[in-house]
Amino acid sequence: MNQPVAPALLAAQAWKAVGVARPHESAELHVLGQATYTDDIPELQGTLHAALGLSSKAHARIGAMDLAPVRNSPGVVAVYTAEDIVGTNDCGPIIHDDPILCAGEVQYVGQPIFIVVADTHDNARRAARRAVIGYDELPAIFTPQEAKAANSYVLPPMHLKRGDYQAAFDMAPHVVKGQLFVGGQEQFYLEGQIAYAIPKEDSGMLVQCSTQHPSEMQHVVAHALGVHSHKILVECRRMGGGFGGKESQSALWAASAAISAAKLRRPVKLRADRDDDMLVTGKRHCFFYEYEVGYDDNGKILAAKVDMTLRAGFSADLSGPVATRAVCHFDNTYYLSDVDIRAGCGKTNTQSNTAFRGFGGPQGAIAIEYIVDEIARNLGRDALDIRRLNFYGKTERNITPYGQEIVDNVIEALTAELEQSSDYRARRAAVEAYNKTSPVLKKGLALTPLKFGIAFNVTHLNQAGALVHVYVDGSVLVNHGGTEMGQGINTKVLQVVAHELGLDAERVRATATDTSKVANTSATAASTGADLNGKAAQDAARQIRERLAAFAVRLYGDDDGVPVQFFDNAVHANGHSIPFPELVQKAYLARVQLWSDGFYATPGLHWDPKTMNGHPFSYYAYGAAVSEVVVDTLTGEWKLLRADALYDAGRSLNPAIDLGQVEGAFIQGMGWLTTEQLWWNPAGKLMTHAPSTYKIPGVSDCPEDFRVRLFDNGNVEDSIHRSKAVGEPPLLLPFSVFFAIRDAISAVGGHRVNPPLNAPATSEEILRAVSAVEAAA
Ligand code: MTE
Ligand code: HPA
Ligand code: MOS
Repeated sequence: MNQPVAPALLAAQAWKAVGVARPHESAELHVLGQATYTDDIPELQGTLHAALGLSSKAHARIGAMDLAPVRNSPGVVAVYTAEDIVGTNDCGPIIHDDPILCAGEVQYVGQPIFIVVADTHDNARRAARRAVIGYDELPAIFTPQEAKAANSYVLPPMHLKRGDYQAAFDMAPHVVKGQLFVGGQEQFYLEGQIAYAIPKEDSGMLVQCSTQHPSEMQHVVAHALGVHSHKILVECRRMGGGFGGKESQSALWAASAAISAAKLRRPVKLRADRDDDMLVTGKRHCFFYEYEVGYDDNGKILAAKVDMTLRAGFSADLSGPVATRAVCHFDNTYYLSDVDIRAGCGKTNTQSNTAFRGFGGPQGAIAIEYIVDEIARNLGRDALDIRRLNFYGKTERNITPYGQEIVDNVIEALTAELEQSSDYRARRAAVEAYNKTSPVLKKGLALTPLKFGIAFNVTHLNQAGALVHVYVDGSVLVNHGGTEMGQGINTKVLQVVAHELGLDAERVRATATDTSKVANTSATAASTGADLNGKAAQDAARQIRERLAAFAVRLYGDDDGVPVQFFDNAVHANGHSIPFPELVQKAYLARVQLWSDGFYATPGLHWDPKTMNGHPFSYYAYGAAVSEVVVDTLTGEWKLLRADALYDAGRSLNPAIDLGQVEGAFIQGMGWLTTEQLWWNPAGKLMTHAPSTYKIPGVSDCPEDFRVRLFDNGNVEDSIHRSKAVGEPPLLLPFSVFFAIRDAISAVGGHRVNPPLNAPATSEEILRAVSAVEAAA
């Protein structure tokens, strides 16, 4: 006979603080305008304000520089140039080619040359404009194509190959060849870059800063000031968005504020104006691709070659890992037997491009999607069928070009579910029927899949730490190395801690990220924030739980092997149910340690950057989306009529937050591929440096019919509660919007011509493609 399960065990199993939809821990504060961002921190008496003086030339030697007019401006207290930096004049995250203040040679329009500190923000900004700088201009390179032609790179080229591309290509009955350009994207975090540096005793410095990477800010500031890291404390309670733009590039602002504060021994705040922010900081890399692919009569890819050139900008920043991720995402959901993938980080006289949601992954994957779309059109087939034919298998055709075996493939099942729920086939027929009778307005439909590798592709970054404190009143505080940028990491981590201790989530609070609490943290990036810090916090909470459980056994005795249970805000031991605060009280008096650290390092990862082979990812996240658009082929205007998205968040830690992430990423990615155009004038000045000229999506651009769902699929990896990352991968879902637009344009030519559509598909670009199709049809 089966042993009856102890009632306490059943109740404990039913206890759930994770896997439940609950609001963001700061939702109420956000809505009330009471959430504190860096600029809201009450300013200390004597606070000064800094602004940066920027280069007006793309590439030039600085000649005579007259900063007297800046110094003599109203309210100005000090002006600093590169010479004033006591420590290292560098804020590059990997390679040290990124001066904080430029000396000698400027490398892009917008490069900081000096810092001016004044009594007010306005006075500092006005003064910054008064510099008289002579420039001896040098030749400049702006586009990735120019960089490629000039062999101008910030890093050595990358090359990943498998099989024998050339032999397979030569045998292929059909080929597609072409070029594609996919533009960059401004992060457009609502809260701009900002740092507030406060000198402390004994050459210490507190930097309050909007950053995804407090530890990196600590290092850069320490180096710039020429002091050890233990003198520098960086704190970030939250960001008003980061999107990758504050992974490395918050450093310039943190260092500039700290340099000034250290010199003046006064608090200095540096808050970037939006235009300056856009002129100074890097964006998503634009990519130029040349591709050549062979396929068979059914549309199966036999050989694929792509050469990608990224616009890295003037310095390396994170371009190396971005390019690596692009190379490792060119396959997307497709098995490519014989491949040749190259990537070059083109050095250009523009802002140093950096992380942006997806981190090169979207740029890698969109190329193969473009190719698959062309194969389908060439064969007169529905692109969904060609996609499916090329999907990775589950037990064969399941090794990526970089050698990782895919063991969690659900793309076929997920796609099938979405195909059904979105009524794809019937809508395909309806779109065809509509287009037959509509000469000007053309509809388009596309279903695109995604696979995204989860882990930092630099193995050692996959670690995290946390601290959990249980106070004597039973309330719990968790601190971890992750940063909150709106994505809900703190909500998820506090849910994990609450779950572990059997508490309501309301009993746990998360604090600001602080380099003096958890040391040597990684950036909150690569979508791994909740995965890594959730595990670390769980480890910390578990240790406290174990101590409390042992203590409860001491008090109440052992229940014949039934473990002490934590649920319902109480501890259940041997028939006793003690409210959590009560047991904590007793434990304190008995001198039981009520706080703990926790640590996590993702197992099983390895990567050889030379051969571009290994096991760089812990697991994959999957998704797919269907978009239907209508395009006005006379004006290039278009509308997204309906979008259906299905995303594999594993066993979601918080479905409400995850749905928000999917929706947000979808719309953000749609902006990248359609309306957000970065435009530099011929002299290399970014002219789209404000919302007046740079068009991010608005509420009215969201489809009226937007059906976003999560695909229930426990992670095969032992991730935190079997959840999957959600931050970046859904940014690939709006590929479906881009390819629906391309499908609508293609209807103009009866689907016989591949529209040469680059991204972003602005109205001008759509019209250009329409004309090309008309000319060729
Ligand atoms: N969501 C919001 N609201 N704001 C952001 O800045 N950044 C994205 C994503 N979602 C971002 C966001 C990026 S680039 C990453 S890497 C992840 O969140 C980081 O958070 P996570 O790892 O905790 O998901
Ligand atoms: N994502 C974000 N940041 C990173 C990565 C990544 O994959 N690798 C190194 N830094
Ligand atoms: Mo996200 S681009 O990894 O910060």
